[in-house]
Amino acid sequence: MILPVYVYGSPVLKKVAEPIAELTPELKILIADMFETMYHAGGVGLAAPQIGKSIRLIVMDASPFAEDDPIAEGFKRVLINPELVEFSDEECAFNEGCLSLPKLYVDIKRPAKVRVKYLDENFKEHDEWWEGTPARIVQHETDHLNGILFVDHLAPIRKKLMSSRLQKMAKGDFTSRYKTKIG
Ligand code: NI
Repeated sequence: MILPVYVYGSPVLKKVAEPIAELTPELKILIADMFETMYHAGGVGLAAPQIGKSIRLIVMDASPFAEDDPIAEGFKRVLINPELVEFSDEECAFNEGCLSLPKLYVDIKRPAKVRVKYLDENFKEHDEWWEGTPARIVQHETDHLNGILFVDHLAPIRKKLMSSRLQKMAKGDFTSRYKTKIG
């Protein structure tokens, strides 16, 4: 089922999400719905707060970046209770977008590599170093679980330049080709 995506201005996007204690049939359905919602909206990652659930769950599929980044090919993951435990000193810039900030794209600098600990859709533990677009996506999505949006990484002056557009967005003055919600 395609779910509406909560947009900038929704309080759920500013909350720290709760850890997930167990794998339930409801959680499995939610994971499937989040993938469907993400693919429908043309995204490469989706965090549960973006569909209004304040829990530590991310779905991602980096495949659309495979042409420029071979690592991204088939890089589809479910991450439950992910933790970013180590980062490379090396940083890189990437033009980020977010389904919760329709049609806004901004260059954001982040560590190039990241060590990710997480549980997968079978509650199996993983501890891996990621690089390339998967490293970028997991940092962006883990931020969502901590109530952080990519615009929060901007220097105050750059965020100020964007403030009128963000205020409009929070009032519903934007267009998107997928179902959205503010509230
Ligand atoms: Ni996002």
